[in-house]
Amino acid sequence: MELYEAIRRRRSIRKYKPDMVPRETIARLLEEAMWAPSGLNWQPWEFMVITGPKKDELAASYGRITEFGFPPAGQRSPAQENFIRWAKTLGGAPVAIVALTPAYGDPSVRKMNLESVSAAFAYLLLAATAEGLGTCWMTGPLRNEKEIRRILEIPDDKEIVAITPIGYPDEEPAPPPRKDQQGKIQWIGF
Ligand SMILES: Cc1cc2nc3c(=O)[nH]c(=O)nc-3n(C[C@H](O)[C@H](O)[C@H](O)COP(=O)(O)O)c2cc1C
Repeated sequence: MELYEAIRRRRSIRKYKPDMVPRETIARLLEEAMWAPSGLNWQPWEFMVITGPKKDELAASYGRITEFGFPPAGQRSPAQENFIRWAKTLGGAPVAIVALTPAYGDPSVRKMNLESVSAAFAYLLLAATAEGLGTCWMTGPLRNEKEIRRILEIPDDKEIVAITPIGYPDEEPAPPPRKDQQGKIQWIGF
């Protein structure tokens, strides 16, 4: 798939087919992600690729924190019910990927590392799109970061940057509209 097409076609997918994604495919996507630029070429990323009961625990944790922020059952809108269903199961995705970076260093180093890992994560999502796979960049589960650290045994010297389910899409959501360039871009010297 051509790059511009992948950029436009990538969507946040919140409903997946149960089919397993081959390990070699995920390894290939991560290989592409690791071609992202990184500050000082430190390549400060680590990825956890999770399936099975640990992935289910991760989803359950996101489900709990999502439910906590919504009205009690019976008083929720259909959209809120849908969102909770997605959160509790990660949309039925067979695999989740968690990106980590070192959690130490002065603020400028931490910022540099976060930016580097974010670049790699964006590459990962685009490569997944090119493979016909769905993803959804998520930071919401980090509202319950302590629990995620416990579930995945992530030590405090690693920062959790982002999480995505990955799997074959079982929906084709319409692209959420983008804001126009007005007020977003300053052209200087043109
Ligand atoms: C930093 C970041 C955090 C996000 N966190 C969540 C999340 O916790 N849960 C979720 O369902 N979507 C999350 N999203 C997905 C956004 O809602 C989505 O990208 C946005 O609505 C645009 O839709 P699109 O990705 O289909 O273009 C996140 C996206 C980004 C970049």
